[in-house]
Amino acid sequence: MSTLFDKLGGQQGLEQVVDEFYKRVMADNTLSKFFANTNMDKQRQKQVDFFAKIFDGPDQYKGRSMDATHTGMNLQQQHFDVIAKYLNEALAARGVSSEDANAAVGRVESLKGTILNK
Ligand code: HEM
Repeated sequence: MSTLFDKLGGQQGLEQVVDEFYKRVMADNTLSKFFANTNMDKQRQKQVDFFAKIFDGPDQYKGRSMDATHTGMNLQQQHFDVIAKYLNEALAARGVSSEDANAAVGRVESLKGTILNK
């Protein structure tokens, strides 16, 4: 049985989705300001590893917990909603079906409570 990770195109597919995703994030000045001091090459790599893990692919994520990472950012629902929208767009741009995209975004949505208002 293929995992969500496989359905999104495996490692290579996920790398392309994450590229598309951060292209959109960084073009939006309500979001890009949060990444002003972030090394985006490393960020993209960490996000690929993190998504691989939560989409039932290989677990190679070596970053911090979602709680610790986003503490002090005071992220709000609106930031989260736009991030989820860009993830959905990035998945569609790489040809992922809406069914699989919804499954992926649903897993990300389940992290909301650990990311917001910290
Ligand atoms: C929606 C679900 C989200 C997921 C799955 C997620 C995931 C991650 C991951 C895996 C990291 C890397 C952690 C590390 O460096 O150890 C990270 C860092 C970061 N996230 Fe998120 N994030 C989410 C939402 C957001 C939102 C809404 C924002 C702000 C608009 C945001 C801003 C950041 C920033 C600025 C960093 C980098 C911190 C640094 O430079 O060290 N994240 N996130």
